[in-house]
Amino acid sequence: MFQTSHPVVGPGFHDRTDEMQRLMGFVAELRAGANRWLAIIGPRKVGKTSMILELSRRITDVDFILVDTQEVSPPSLELFRTCALRVVDQVLGRELDNSLEVLAAAGEQLEAVLDASATFTALPAPLKSTIRALARAEMTDDFARLCLDLPERLAEALQRHIVIAIDEFQELAGLTRGADVLPIIRSTWQRHRRIGYVVSGSGRTLLENMIARQHSPFFQHFSLMYVEPFARAEAIALLTTDGGPGRPIVVEHAQSGALGYRRNEYAGDARAAPRCFVRSSYASALGLHDHESAARRVSLVVGASAGSPTHRC
Ligand SMILES: Nc1ncnc2c1ncn2[C@@H]1O[C@H](COP(=O)(O)OP(=O)(O)OP(=O)(O)O)[C@@H](O)[C@H]1O
Ligand SMILES: [Mg+2]
Repeated sequence: MFQTSHPVVGPGFHDRTDEMQRLMGFVAELRAGANRWLAIIGPRKVGKTSMILELSRRITDVDFILVDTQEVSPPSLELFRTCALRVVDQVLGRELDNSLEVLAAAGEQLEAVLDASATFTALPAPLKSTIRALARAEMTDDFARLCLDLPERLAEALQRHIVIAIDEFQELAGLTRGADVLPIIRSTWQRHRRIGYVVSGSGRTLLENMIARQHSPFFQHFSLMYVEPFARAEAIALLTTDGGPGRPIVVEHAQSGALGYRRNEYAGDARAAPRCFVRSSYASALGLHDHESAARRVSLVVGASAGSPTHRC
């Protein structure tokens, strides 16, 4: 069924051939030992998270975790504890009886679950101490450094590669603990060889300021990948192949003037892509009686390039 509130993967994931090729290339470079970071930038609902999840589905020889900065509210260094727990869960997962992240959230100890893992037992002692401390240590700058460093040390010990994706990365822009924490993140990440960092977000200016401006601690560390709404041909292909049972959108309708764009003034979000709507004269011909859901259905996958909000399909 067509839905817009959740990222799509697998059979529901459409097109994005060039973007996926670039993401696969990023992983290939990581495997080859290059320390690369990639920032995915695009308007709200353009499909950023879907691409990241589809990448994780397609790669099987590299571990993959995704965290969203909004999981920790307000944004804080706790995000890197979550990230570290998720990495250990991912890497030792098959040997663990329970998720460390869940145990930590429930205030439970990790020891019993960890000690049952042969891979954990064979890790270097300092690394084991850090992992054991994940559930209980107070978050200080020093502990944040240990959390930030943990994925690399684990990947090194186990000769693995890991992709860490951080969604809505721009939310970390204002993160301070007396001093700015972005330099702490940068200085730790830049020593990593086995971790590929992918960050994404919709706050284009904020994200660009954060990672690409000369004064930024991340200056020249990231490659940028801009994600645009689908081009017309892909949009029509998606509408005509993914109409959902009993609600097909035939090619002629998709190609006709059934769809239009208007500024997304109701979203209250200047970053939102122009909204695509179904012209009322076509709604019943398309079998789309619920106008609002019909509009939502097409608005998120058929885009106009920014700056041409009145463009017609
Ligand atoms: N490649 C795709 N194929 C089919 N549908 C897609 C694709 N990408 C995005 N969509 C549609 O757009 C919706 C939003 O996708 P997604 O959540 O990945 O966007 P986003 O850019 O991460 O959004 P947000 O700004 O809210 O984080 C999905 O629910 C799906 O309906
Ligand atoms: Mg998203």
